[in-house]
Amino acid sequence: MEASYDFGMVGLGVMGRNFLLNIVDNGYAAIGLDLDKEKVDALNAEADGRVLEGTTDTDTFIQSLSVPRKIMLLVPAGRAVDSVIESLLPKLDEGDLIIDGGNSFFKDTNRRFESLKEKGIRFMGMGVSGGAEGARRGPSIMPGGVKEAYEVVGSILEAVSAKVDGEPCVAHLGNGAAGHYVKMVHNGIEYGLMQLIAEAYDLLKNVGKLDNKAIHEAFNSWNQGALQSYLIEITADIFTQKDDQGNGDLVDKILDKAKQKGTGKWTSQNAMDLGIPVPTIDAAVTMRGLSSLKKERVSLQPHYTRAIEEKPAVDAQEYTSQVGEALHFAFIITYAQGMHLLAEASEEYQFGLDLEAVSRIWRGGCIIRARLLEQMRQAYSQEPDLRNLLMSSVFQQTVLHSQHAVRTVINAATQSGVPTLALSSTLNYFDAYRNARLPLNLVQAQRDYFGSHTYERVDKDGIFHTEWK
Ligand code: 6PG
Repeated sequence: MEASYDFGMVGLGVMGRNFLLNIVDNGYAAIGLDLDKEKVDALNAEADGRVLEGTTDTDTFIQSLSVPRKIMLLVPAGRAVDSVIESLLPKLDEGDLIIDGGNSFFKDTNRRFESLKEKGIRFMGMGVSGGAEGARRGPSIMPGGVKEAYEVVGSILEAVSAKVDGEPCVAHLGNGAAGHYVKMVHNGIEYGLMQLIAEAYDLLKNVGKLDNKAIHEAFNSWNQGALQSYLIEITADIFTQKDDQGNGDLVDKILDKAKQKGTGKWTSQNAMDLGIPVPTIDAAVTMRGLSSLKKERVSLQPHYTRAIEEKPAVDAQEYTSQVGEALHFAFIITYAQGMHLLAEASEEYQFGLDLEAVSRIWRGGCIIRARLLEQMRQAYSQEPDLRNLLMSSVFQQTVLHSQHAVRTVINAATQSGVPTLALSSTLNYFDAYRNARLPLNLVQAQRDYFGSHTYERVDKDGIFHTEWK
């Protein structure tokens, strides 16, 4: 058998198949492996004269790849990644490269990296964002690991990635599990933005009294301005979709219970471990949890509905523009939280992240791509060691100005009983973070009072304890 394929993919689900077709479209010869014959047949049916093959046989797969072999896995995160690696391992040669392109937990990536290193096999954890369409037409790609390993596949990844102003949306992001860590935070930000958009929808619907057509128009107009982004764009589309199984709009028929695969929760959990506040991502995870308590919510509603008075109608146009401005503020704060976490993690785990590169490769292809990313890129290009975007002059005027809209929108929401856990979290984060003195002096006093935990003073150095009463 001639070893002639440039690239191999294990896992021919929709993401794996599309990524492989993208590679082949860029002039590379590629082979896919899946134990499911139907998926292999589906890939072969798409070959259409291109140098592309699907197989269910691991030996054929391995022997057809030119060395050093470049093998990417797009299989569900967790056990499946380990078992695929175990099955390939005895057949690989030193210097071959395995790339895990799934949403793996970054600590698993570290473990796999170390254990494969001992065996002379190179391993890269790589985030891929953009869904099925992104994989096919150009995703944002977040590889981490050893730079030399990246160089083995860099030209292929650059060819298949999304491009913005001619620049590929891929870069070697840093050491170890840097790629999967960045993808995890990407998803945390994604959770935050999606929840903020859902709250804006709730506000337009239940405070602004807008119908789906007007909500579509609001999102559409926001997408022409500072909020321009993939998530705002698809949200505008969603409001035009008719129900194909009945009357009315599809959005009204969808059950309000959001599922999750876990990357948002991991972001919150790890941010807690590192002591970096990401309250908007926390709020988004919490709201997915609250959304799934559907039975309890349904049973509580009749007991508490009367607590809220009907409010007079607001001016729809003015209100829409206020909500848009509030959303702009909230988007900036959400990215700021995620990037702050990346800055800290880069030090803690010695990833060596370049946050300008992260902003650059998120400008296209990924789910959180947005006009804002270009400004973020400028902020990091001016100050590569920026701890938090709120410290950059690039955002200060916008944040100062738009905070007023958030205050107004949240006031009205509170009066009407519309929940804004994520939106409020952005304002509360801002109000706390910009404040030189918080009331946590009192928390220190309490800790010292009941547990002799000691405290520091504002007027002299040292550690103090008081015999309170
Ligand atoms: C992407 C997405 C993708 C993931 C969704 C679903 O960047 O293309 O992040 O990786 O499938 O985010 O995640 P949840 O099921 O947790 O919502």
